[in-house]
Parts: sequence; C-alpha cells; structure tokens
Amino acid sequence: MIVLIGFMGAGKTTVGQLLSGQLGLPFLDADAVIEERAGCPVPQIFAERGEPAFRELEHETIAGLLAGPRTVLALGGGAVEDARTRRLLVGAHVVYLHVPYAGALARVGGDAGRPMLSRPDLEAVYRRRLGAYEAVATHTVRTDGRAPADVCGEIVSRLGVGGSAPHRLTFIYQPNVR
Ligand code: S3P
Repeated sequence: MIVLIGFMGAGKTTVGQLLSGQLGLPFLDADAVIEERAGCPVPQIFAERGEPAFRELEHETIAGLLAGPRTVLALGGGAVEDARTRRLLVGAHVVYLHVPYAGALARVGGDAGRPMLSRPDLEAVYRRRLGAYEAVATHTVRTDGRAPADVCGEIVSRLGVGGSAPHRLTFIYQPNVR
C-alpha cells in the first residue's frame, strides 16, 4: 500500500494518479470513496452532518481501504489527525507531500469544494497537523515549485520501485538456475 498524505493543495490526487500509472497499481482518493458511500459531496456532509460525522466516515472508509487490495491511496488533509487512522498506517509506505502554507493557499484558495478553507484558524490547523504528518510519514517529499511529474519521479526512486511492480515480480524467484 502506498499512501499519500499532506495538507490540502499538496498535490496528493495529481501525484497519486501519476504514481499509479507508473507503478501499475490502482489509484484511490479516500474523499471520492467517502462521497460515494455518503451519496453526496464532502461540503454537503460537513454542512448537513457536521465535521465530526465526516471524520468518523473518513476513518471508517480509510480503514476499509487499507484492509483491501494494494493501491496508491490519497488521504484527505485532515485524515491523520485521527489517532486510530495513524495506527492503521503502520507498515504502509506513507509519503508525506509537504507544501508550505502559502503555497497550499495559492493552489486551493477559494475552492468551494473544500469546507476547511473557510476556517478562520486555518493556519493554526496547518501548523498543528505538521507533527501528525511527520509522525506517520516513511518519506517526506517537498512539492513547492515542482511539477507533479518531478515529485512522482522522486517518490518512485525513494521507494525503490520502478516500472510495473507486478511484472517485475515474475523475475524475482528463480530457483536452481544454472
Ligand atoms: C480536508 C481536506 C480535504 C477533505 C475535506 C477535509 C481537511 O481533502 O478531506 O475537505 O481537513 O484538510 P484534500 O486534502 O484532498 O483537499
């Protein structure tokens, strides 16, 4: 399992899709799966059921996805604030896409699809989360000023996986080769 974490605007979905193509693994965006399960968009879940209900649904959804087949999985920016979710990430490749606060705002500022952006204490939320991202990350990759393909290339080389992983496995076990 390769899990992408980081604040809104870090590029988790864009980089995740590229990585999925490169590694030959399916890509899943936890928020998209939550929306499918809830039958409505994330802002509507926040507005009608409240953030705590969203967080519960988020944890349950991620737990289910982590127990399923191997994928490249992008998590919403707040997912790792849940200690239960952090515990479930032990043993996965967890790639933290680091974005500076100003860079994150420049990328996603004004997006009506992200209810957290209307929080007056958003910068404090960002700072509070840095520790959680770092605590669960197995790799931290900077994203500011970089193209998604460049970030993806760094992840592939840092993970030590390349090409299409399922095909590579074909050549690993060769007993009694003379
Ligand atoms: C959130 C980030 C969003 C989404 C929800 C809450 C957050 O995901 O999960 O709006 O708390 O930072 P992205 O990080 O993909 O924007």
